[in-house]
Amino acid sequence: MAYVIIDGKKVPIQKGQNLMDIEDEISVPFACRSGVCQACAVTMKKGEENCSRLNENEEMMGAEGSHRLGCQVVCCKDGDEVEIELEAGWV
Ligand code: FES
Repeated sequence: MAYVIIDGKKVPIQKGQNLMDIEDEISVPFACRSGVCQACAVTMKKGEENCSRLNENEEMMGAEGSHRLGCQVVCCKDGDEVEIELEAGWV
């Protein structure tokens, strides 16, 4: 089990799960769910190495560096020490 930290809240996530799989527990809005609207923009504050890499959809929507699209981010590691800290929006 890994964890997503957002707004001071620590939410469990499993390896292979997308941020949309825990959407009821995180304050990130999702709309198109396919990487073409930016509604789910998030800023990775920590643990980007625990996530899938920036993909083509995200690059086409202007994401770069710590700016990602939550609907495209998949947790790629497992373990109690694995944390992904993020903030809603591109800040
Ligand atoms: S929900 Fe539209 S880009 Fe993620």
